[in-house]
Amino acid sequence: MSAFNEERVLSVHHWTDRLFSFTTTRDPSLRFSNGHFTMIGLKVDGKPLLRAYSIASPNYEEHLEFLSIKVPDGPLTSRLQNIQVGDSILVGRKPTGTLLIDYLLPGKRLYLLGTGTGLAPFLSVARDPESYERFEKVVVVHGVREVKELAYHALFTRELQQHEFLGDIVAGKLLYYPTVTREAFRNQGRITDLMESGKLFADLGLPPLNPAEDRVMLCGSPAMLHDLKLMLEARGFKEGNTTTPGDFVIERAFVEK
Ligand code: A2P
Repeated sequence: MSAFNEERVLSVHHWTDRLFSFTTTRDPSLRFSNGHFTMIGLKVDGKPLLRAYSIASPNYEEHLEFLSIKVPDGPLTSRLQNIQVGDSILVGRKPTGTLLIDYLLPGKRLYLLGTGTGLAPFLSVARDPESYERFEKVVVVHGVREVKELAYHALFTRELQQHEFLGDIVAGKLLYYPTVTREAFRNQGRITDLMESGKLFADLGLPPLNPAEDRVMLCGSPAMLHDLKLMLEARGFKEGNTTTPGDFVIERAFVEK
């Protein structure tokens, strides 16, 4: 059997000239956990050209959703950014990854810290009812350069709260903290600086980060992961993985060079 399913594009949304998302059909046999990534791509000259993408849709949805950057000369994204409804797309049959609540020890608050397209896996985790059964608060923090890059802002500020099933589940538990680094916005600065200064926690009305109660998932650029991992370890947090659960887990956000 092929390692890929061939799916059809159902919708495409361009957030900015650097960022877009799209939905596709989902083979009924595809199983994944919220937070997983899989290989996706296109056939180019008859050969599959694939990259790892977090699945942004929760695993109970009938369709799949992905969030992507656009790199003008990126082998895949220069083509992928032109996809249209009805086009065919390859989706790997073996999703995997470490950003699963199963790889975290029990805790009170779940922090989902993402920069840029690093938000993608958290779109799935934050729409998983299980996240709200295991944690008292689920805190989505999204750091971007410019306001217009705050993809899914409406989902976190309005749509989830109004959702017919998730509305009650997220009420009083889901917190969203968008922050912008290169223009004026109500929250400004890098996630690292906002955590170091304590402003993030003060603004949210939450206690300072502490490994006895808080669990963290990180997804972003290598530099962001490096800095936040050091910061968490300095505060006594232990990294978890697919075999040993911990206080935080990490995954690199997709970047195409
Ligand atoms: P900055 O504008 O100060 O570089 P990118 O699009 O480059 O992935 O960046 C997304 C967001 O992540 C930007 O707001 C950027 O801030 C921020 N960022 C970049 N490097 C780090 C880091 N080492 N720690 C925390 N945030 C970072």
